[in-house]
Amino acid sequence: MCKLGINIDHVATLRNARGQHHPDPLKAAMILKETQVDSVTMHLREDRRHIKDKDIYLIKEKVDLPINLEIAPTEEMTKIALKLNPRSVCFVPEKRMEITTEGGLNIETNMLKIEKLLNSLSNSKINVSCFIEPSFTQIDCIKSLGIKTIEFHTGSYADSKTKKVMEKNLSLIRNAVEYATKLGLDCHAGHGLNYDNVYNIAAIKEIKELNIGHFIIGDAIFCGLKNSIIKMKEIINSARK
Ligand code: PXP
Repeated sequence: MCKLGINIDHVATLRNARGQHHPDPLKAAMILKETQVDSVTMHLREDRRHIKDKDIYLIKEKVDLPINLEIAPTEEMTKIALKLNPRSVCFVPEKRMEITTEGGLNIETNMLKIEKLLNSLSNSKINVSCFIEPSFTQIDCIKSLGIKTIEFHTGSYADSKTKKVMEKNLSLIRNAVEYATKLGLDCHAGHGLNYDNVYNIAAIKEIKELNIGHFIIGDAIFCGLKNSIIKMKEIINSARK
């Protein structure tokens, strides 16, 4: 089966719009637990525009669900990860003015920086992954750093304007997953996935985990968080039959 992590950042976006407590990411994490998702994903951005430090500490304390913490590859964020001790950390690129994570992390040009951060995390049990584009060069760099898990950015696939382009982006992901799996790496994927485009990604059997956020939280406004997660799980599971 393909594991599902739900990113609850945008529950916090809505909460922060009023600067008060509602809707509470903690309550969302509790619903995730009830709906038996495999992990709760949160991106602690440097500008704290959605999830705040206190959200992740509270969720860690109150909800028995593995945390996948997305962070920029910086010393400050790595220190927070060490203090929080989540199940996993995913290094993502971060630009201040971007609306969402635009593209994957360039491992090739950040080798030394990432190596240093990996050294700081080496005494912990945190599993490290990096969010990258489906590129063989990037995969080779991940492998040479000794990182065991990759999350492939599915944004280009999800945002494809034509069927032909979508097919091309899908085969880039398929080929990258195949290559990474042959190198012994665990493959995850996410970004921009919704009910219409998740099937083809979930059908790539080597992908062990999907991380989905914005669409589910948006759909939850109309259907309720539990129902939206159940529907997404049904589609993902149908792709594995
Ligand atoms: N995976 C990673 C590493 C991300 O940065 C994001 C977006 O924060 C997602 C998955 C989820 O993307 P979306 O919110 O578009 O489903």
